[in-house]
Amino acid sequence: MSNGDTQPLLACRNVFKYFGGLAAVNDFDLDVYSGDVIGIGGPNGAGKTTFLDVISGINPATSGEILLDGIPIANKKADVICHLGISRTFQLNAGFESMSIRENTLVGASFGRGDKGWFPRMIYSKEMHERVERALELCHLQDRAELIVRDLPVLDRKLLLMAGALATEPKLLLIDEPVGGLNPHEVDDVMEIVQGLIAEGVTIILIEHVMRFLLQLSERVVIMHHGEKIYEGDSKGLLSDRKVVEVYLGEGTADRLQHMMAERA
Ligand SMILES: Nc1ncnc2c1ncn2[C@@H]1O[C@H](COP(=O)(O)OP(=O)(O)OP(=O)(O)O)[C@@H](O)[C@H]1O
Ligand SMILES: [Mg+2]
Repeated sequence: MSNGDTQPLLACRNVFKYFGGLAAVNDFDLDVYSGDVIGIGGPNGAGKTTFLDVISGINPATSGEILLDGIPIANKKADVICHLGISRTFQLNAGFESMSIRENTLVGASFGRGDKGWFPRMIYSKEMHERVERALELCHLQDRAELIVRDLPVLDRKLLLMAGALATEPKLLLIDEPVGGLNPHEVDDVMEIVQGLIAEGVTIILIEHVMRFLLQLSERVVIMHHGEKIYEGDSKGLLSDRKVVEVYLGEGTADRLQHMMAERA
């Protein structure tokens, strides 16, 4: 628990998401407090993205309770949930290809809290522009803000997704595989940016297969397997958890990560 809050910012209770007979999310519970950084890992197909889809209203839960600041959101639409304070990135690096980084981020800002319109506004307020510049700065994109998205390398596309989500000034930021496909140097760049967000007090749930990224950033780690939570706790306990090692990490990776964490301690 962070900041001494007694009520979680996000509370998920007995959440299920079925696709036909497949329970992609299976009786899942999670409490996230303001200021928390939660890392979710687990094998391909474990249900990690589906869980984010459920929280963000992209693909509603089949059953279960989801509360944001005590308000039930399980049956609310994605735009309403965004206005209530949850924003996210996606695994695919989608953007408006012919528009600049700044213009793309403005679209994110106009979809944020306070804008009740059906379509992104074409006239942007001073306050929106300020949110955009702040988001670009947090994502180290300010000096490249005029570049057109179709020309961007993968790293900048990933940062753009984060900037668009941050421009809504969310209470809770969900990040899905922010470093998938990046080289080690680029992973370090994104790690520094996320560390900056954490220092700003942004509450984050992040999904990642790159374990050094997940372990170094998250104060609490959750591992999913077949839609269920098989581990929740700190990084140290994770690396010695028999089930996590068996179904996800393997002995070699667990040993390597243990050495890495010991060196950094
Ligand atoms: N729209 C959908 N319709 C049917 N099945 C789906 C749908 N979305 C996901 N699934 C299935 O739900 C399960 C969980 O998928 P999900 O994408 O959440 O996994 P993941 O943990 O994010 O995996 P990865 O690490 O590969 O991104 C998988 O078996 C997947 O095939
Ligand atoms: Mg996924």
